[in-house]
Amino acid sequence: MTKDYGPDMFLQGCGSEGTTDLNHVCLPAGCTYFPRFLTEAGQIALLARIRQVIAEAPLYTPTMPRTGKPFSVAMTNCGPLGWVSDKEAGYRYEALHPQTGRPWPPMPDMLDYLWASLTGYKHKPQACLVNFYGGKAKLGLHRDEDEEEFSAPILSVSLGNSAIFRIGGLKRRDPTERLELQSGDVLVMGGASRLRYHGIDRVLPGTSDLLEEGGRINLTLRRVTKAE
Ligand code: SIN
Ligand code: FE2
Repeated sequence: MTKDYGPDMFLQGCGSEGTTDLNHVCLPAGCTYFPRFLTEAGQIALLARIRQVIAEAPLYTPTMPRTGKPFSVAMTNCGPLGWVSDKEAGYRYEALHPQTGRPWPPMPDMLDYLWASLTGYKHKPQACLVNFYGGKAKLGLHRDEDEEEFSAPILSVSLGNSAIFRIGGLKRRDPTERLELQSGDVLVMGGASRLRYHGIDRVLPGTSDLLEEGGRINLTLRRVTKAE
């Protein structure tokens, strides 16, 4: 099978040893920001793959544990596991789409490649959560803590309109900083930053024309189970 990515899709240097020669900004320890890591061609190619994922595994609205309040963000997943939430059973990973009952579509090669190139983690990611932020969607401050394996980082890719990302500390009340995430940006949260609180305050309309419907797509790649 041919690969779904090529050298013109990433900033030069991706795939060479380590990440030291790449354009990146170090935030708090363990948190590395790669502004516009995906080229325009890369963003278009990745978006086309994500549209295929959404065609097979439609975006749906999860609900909050206990209260059943709907999220403002629509979600789906690809990879062997997907992150889901509902009133009855709360936050967790499942192998099947809650509405279609079918397995999540496979992880695009391009995302496996990004993960291997930027995280240095020796096992593949098992889940890619696809978040779609339309209208006034936002995501409250939270920690990604439903995984068994915290030694693996979380890798996030942004497509479409820019968003105000907020990152805090290990406690909910710790001070936070804001970072504007733009289309093509990649952010890796690992090490001492793996369990930092973070969220999306808002999406800035009209800041990208990548998505014809407007809004923003964010992908987060996760390792879920303990690797042997
Ligand atoms: C998330 O925390 O799951 C998503 C963050 C983002 O949309 O950038
Ligand atoms: Fe998160």
